Amino acid sequence: MSKNDKNKKYVELIWAEKYKDFIRPEKKTEIERIALPFQITETINEPRIKESEGSLGKMFAPKAKYPENYPLDWKNKLIWGDNKIVMESLLRGDKSSGIPSLAGKINLIYIDPPFFTGADFSVKTTIGNEEVEKEPSIIEQRAYIDTWSQGIASYLKYMYERLVLMRELLADNGSIYVHLDERLGHYIKIILDEIFGYDNFRNEIVWRYKSGGSSEKGHYSRKHDVIFFYTKSDKYTFRTLKEKSYSREFKPYHFEGVQEFTDEIGSYTVVNMKDVWNIDMVGRTSKERLDYATQKPEQLLKRIIVNSSNEGDLIADFFCGSGTTAAVAEKLGRRWIMCDLGKFAIHTTRKRLMNIHKSKLLKDNLNEIYEEMPEIKEEFIEYGNPSRPFEILNIGNYSIGDWQEKEEGFVKFILQLYQTKPLTGFNYIHGEKEKRAVHVGSLSAPVTIDEIKTVVEECNNNNFKSLDVLGLEWGYGVNELAKALAQKSKVDLRLIQIPSYNELSAALVGLDLNLFKIPDEIVEEKISENIKFLELSYLELETKIKGKNVELEIADFQLPPTPELAEIADKIKDPIDLIDYWAVDWDYQGDTFHNQWQSYRTKKEPKVDKKATYTYEKAGKYQIMVKVIDVFGGDVSKIINVKIK
Ligand SMILES: C[S@@+](CC[C@H](N)C(=O)[O-])C[C@H]1O[C@@H](n2cnc3c(N)ncnc32)[C@H](O)[C@@H]1O
Repeated sequence: MSKNDKNKKYVELIWAEKYKDFIRPEKKTEIERIALPFQITETINEPRIKESEGSLGKMFAPKAKYPENYPLDWKNKLIWGDNKIVMESLLRGDKSSGIPSLAGKINLIYIDPPFFTGADFSVKTTIGNEEVEKEPSIIEQRAYIDTWSQGIASYLKYMYERLVLMRELLADNGSIYVHLDERLGHYIKIILDEIFGYDNFRNEIVWRYKSGGSSEKGHYSRKHDVIFFYTKSDKYTFRTLKEKSYSREFKPYHFEGVQEFTDEIGSYTVVNMKDVWNIDMVGRTSKERLDYATQKPEQLLKRIIVNSSNEGDLIADFFCGSGTTAAVAEKLGRRWIMCDLGKFAIHTTRKRLMNIHKSKLLKDNLNEIYEEMPEIKEEFIEYGNPSRPFEILNIGNYSIGDWQEKEEGFVKFILQLYQTKPLTGFNYIHGEKEKRAVHVGSLSAPVTIDEIKTVVEECNNNNFKSLDVLGLEWGYGVNELAKALAQKSKVDLRLIQIPSYNELSAALVGLDLNLFKIPDEIVEEKISENIKFLELSYLELETKIKGKNVELEIADFQLPPTPELAEIADKIKDPIDLIDYWAVDWDYQGDTFHNQWQSYRTKKEPKVDKKATYTYEKAGKYQIMVKVIDVFGGDVSKIINVKIK
């Protein structure tokens, strides 16, 4: 076949902006590639199972098990951020967080991208006995606008860029499964052919379910999704699962040489797995259910992972949602990298992994005969093991390094975002907003109480009755000390959190990520729409020390006033009703938070413990760091110094 004949057979889907020049499409628009450093915000070494939990009861707390090919120095990763930046950063590697380039290193990718109906971001949470819906965050709203504003055309661009990066991350013998439905499946199939090659298309898997899907008049009820399975080359892991195939009328065929079996349904043979999978959705009463609107069943991921990877392989899901892929990879002894831009998704995945011992056991068993009939009830056996160590990372969170040298520019930028009128002639007051003085705290170090004191003094000397202090990070005890200081000095003081780099950059997507290059008018236009500055949550802890034993108790917890909170205010009986999860690092070293104790709400027990205790082995001075995540997904942390004799 000549080159020309080959070209004649070539088919490609085109959308606006795919080519620089739409009429003479010679050059594709290059993918914008932004890499940022990662920041490890939390390490979970081996979550401990409380003695009273787990099938093994009080006998002993089990340790995580490692398959033979599992590199022991590897830590699984849960990354908060836009997957486009995350993937490019993984391709390049990041020395500071110990991540080598992962180009060509991922063995299996599964993705279940959002359709952007808004349902992807809706999160329900329970307060008291009431269910409350969480509003989408700025990041989530922004993702919706940026990918869906031009309808299918912008969505295709969004998916194309990400699929190109996924191919680069995939190992030569790796596979990718892309989960879609009838709305966009056909478009993405053509893009997948372009990126992975038509010849590398292996299957269109139909996931058929009974529940869900619309049954409106005018069309047939929609009861299936599609999953496109591609490989990077023609050499790939495929372990050939087996399933039951019932005979016509469920009666034996008696064909020569064909082994037949009978179960309570009828006669069947064992065949290689077909491409139509009957699996129930995660229903209302399912034990798996986490109230994450788009959660997929673990059984679905189990087939994919067992079939297309081996123990110790690296599995990625860059739209991880509630963490189904992580949970299944974890139980089947695979390594994993998960990413999502929703903070609540990250938190749901974290909790799911911490509670994994109570979930259903899944086994990598190639002799397993999968059921063809979905209704067959499977036995629930508890998994019983803790998760292997994992870390939680942010991508380039307020890349302080960049901003440090440009503190002046940073202050100006934040003042603009906070819609403040800049003031000159003061030492510490940077501006004024609605008659309140505004001070932007230091960004090279946490804002301290001394820094606040000086600003309060300047306010007193200049007749400012109210003050907002804006900060990225806060020093030890600042929140309580500031409350006392405000009472004494009669200045109405508010401590305001500057949104994280992730939030800022999401609000300014499409503009230069180097924030200072953004023209003033644009910053101003985008502000009111997208960026929310919230007051700090208030966390009060009581510490009791007896010998080498420390007891921490949550004495108070208050969230900043928001419309969401106002709606549920009368249902809050106890401050801990607002806490979804809290964790403690008993020996915080000032770098990464090491999660050594945690308490979280589950469906069965929708309340966290109020107290945490710990016994130190050695006398000395320790820093304890406490991290609290509220029911809306916001977090606050606090450091306490203790002296153990
Ligand atoms: C359909 S859900 C995935 C559900 C998941 N399979 C499960 O079982 O829970 C899609 C997810 O993609 C996330 N998402 C959307 N755009 C993203 C982006 N640019 N980067 C990372 N995650 C994104 C959403 O926050 C959402 O959690």
